[in-house]
Amino acid sequence: MSNNASLSRQILVTSALPYANGSIHLGHLLEYIQTDIWVRFQKSRGHECHYVCADDAHGTAIMLRAEQEGITPEQLIAKVSEEHQADFARFGVAFDNYHSTHSEENRAHSERIYTALRDAGHISTLDIEQMYDPVKGLFLADRFIKGTCPKCGAEDQYGDNCEVCSATYTPAELIKPVSAISGATPEVRTSTHYFFKLPDFEAFLQRWTRSGRVQPQIANKLQEWFESGLNEWDISRDAPYFGFEIPDAPGKYFYVWLDAPIGYLASFQNLCDREGLDFDSYWKADSTAEVYHFIGKDIVYFHALFWPAMLEGAGMRTPTGVNCHGFVTVNGAKMSKSRGTFIKAQTYADYLNPEYLRYYFAAKLTSRVDDLDLNLEDFAARVNSDLVGKVVNIASRCAGFIKKLADGKLSSTCAEPDLVARFIYAGDEIAADFEAREFGRAMRRVMELADEANAYIADKAPWVLAKEGGREQEVIDICSVGINLFRILLVYLQPVVPAMAEQARLFLQVESLDWESRQHVLKDHVIGKFKPLMTRIESDRIDAMMAASKEVLEAEKQLTGQAPSVDSASPLADDPISEEIAFDDFVKVDLRIARIEKAAYVEGSNKLLELTLDLGGETRTVFSGIRKAYAPEALEGRLTVMVANLAPRKMRFGVSEGMVLAAGNDDGIYLLSPDSGANPGERVT
Ligand code: 2FM
Ligand code: ZN
Repeated sequence: MSNNASLSRQILVTSALPYANGSIHLGHLLEYIQTDIWVRFQKSRGHECHYVCADDAHGTAIMLRAEQEGITPEQLIAKVSEEHQADFARFGVAFDNYHSTHSEENRAHSERIYTALRDAGHISTLDIEQMYDPVKGLFLADRFIKGTCPKCGAEDQYGDNCEVCSATYTPAELIKPVSAISGATPEVRTSTHYFFKLPDFEAFLQRWTRSGRVQPQIANKLQEWFESGLNEWDISRDAPYFGFEIPDAPGKYFYVWLDAPIGYLASFQNLCDREGLDFDSYWKADSTAEVYHFIGKDIVYFHALFWPAMLEGAGMRTPTGVNCHGFVTVNGAKMSKSRGTFIKAQTYADYLNPEYLRYYFAAKLTSRVDDLDLNLEDFAARVNSDLVGKVVNIASRCAGFIKKLADGKLSSTCAEPDLVARFIYAGDEIAADFEAREFGRAMRRVMELADEANAYIADKAPWVLAKEGGREQEVIDICSVGINLFRILLVYLQPVVPAMAEQARLFLQVESLDWESRQHVLKDHVIGKFKPLMTRIESDRIDAMMAASKEVLEAEKQLTGQAPSVDSASPLADDPISEEIAFDDFVKVDLRIARIEKAAYVEGSNKLLELTLDLGGETRTVFSGIRKAYAPEALEGRLTVMVANLAPRKMRFGVSEGMVLAAGNDDGIYLLSPDSGANPGERVT
């Protein structure tokens, strides 16, 4: 390795640990691919970089799932771990270690950290009342209790909020509560819980947050949390629970989220033990190693508050950075079971080359927390144009001539030293973009270079010269430059498309495509036989993949009676943004505040409610398709927003004189409401 050894860094990198009861899907893959690219880049630069992960194996959900399948939790997590690791391998996500939170290393580190926190006075206990399922013999988390909403009377609502009237309440307030697990009527029981005193760390966390460990958007979010006050965190659960028993509290278990991030340590410990690495040099308080966690925006609280506070409290170092990404949307909408855009890793890989996806994600990734849209048309167009049309094309235009005219041997001198030098220098800028997780910018720069390489070849037109006779050496020189430019580009692409880069390496017959190798211009060097390194994405493969996704979901629905839950729901609207309109068009819509005076079911319609709206003196009748989401009595007296100048529409049940505004999709409908203080009839601008 010719990298300057004094610049070599020690880096530990993690991705969030997937739950051991569900399949990897495209939403997960964004994170693993993002992390893997960053790790491969660091390794290519010659740094000591370790990438560890594990299955997140504890908790009630996993315990119940195993029971449902008639197997032990250990059997379930072994099965899922195998499936997860196979998926990751197919997508080229190359962990240095993949472990489990249900491991001895994790037990040891969890006990050690808990004990240190306790001894330093950061653990408290409190007796709390909780619903208890007397049939199953377990305490019920709110989501495992159902009943009738105490506010609107809607049946079958979850323990802490009503999906119909949006009321929030405690499970004890539910009318006729039942356990969603056994159907039994729950009892209120008291039990002692253990709490981590997060407020002890407020000053530390404020400093930590402001020291460049998180992106600006995340720092702002944390600031809001500080302002609304930090609470003690309930870290215990009562038996039966699949997890680790708390050392000094028989019958009490660590809550799954307590030992999940400690799983990062456990997996690294396991790697250290296997490879003789020094765990403490990475984790002791004054370590100079770097530690980065890549996570999704839904688990910031755990990683940017609880986790650094736990480490600090236990006398360990805290992460150098918590790198947060947004969610994946498909064709502009959140991944949806009903639309068949909920795509599992396995289904994708059965139809399409995983490296297409790696490239597409890279091309769109920034260092920000924004969501990333997988637009399937754009996906095919971008991959075909960039990887196949630009990059592979360089080699395929040049390799044949080198083979035919020089028996595979490149020229002994470089015909375009300046051009080649510029490609090499560009590596500094591209490296800075990779380092900063600005992968999209790096890919744009690589494709600009690819355009330059193609323009050079097109301009020299070796195929014309080859026909002229006597100009063979010129053709070989031009194509040797082309092959060298291609090689440099593959150095830059290797972290993103490692399988394609490996094929290119074999074709080039070089030892390595690491970052430094870009400097070594190939002269008098024999290359191998060229085989197409990547083929175009055909749209029928995408269609087949989408159809297969739908089938997989349908089969699961049959099996379990419901579609699998999406664990990273996107907050984005469910539909792509419509075509742009002019401001003048917008102001034609007269939006007014309306008070719902009366709401009633419509005989013969299972969709509509008839609303009588007060517009501040004027009364309107509007039929609105919100019956599924609202009981009429819950709406009466409520303010909303209506389109007041919509032409009246004659419907089967009467004339509708306007429209109320609601957001919604297959999963729910949400009527818009102004803040209190607005008056009926007021214009909304
Ligand atoms: O949200 C999740 O999928 C969790 N299983 C992530 C855990 S990350 C870490 F803390 F272990
Ligand atoms: Zn309700």
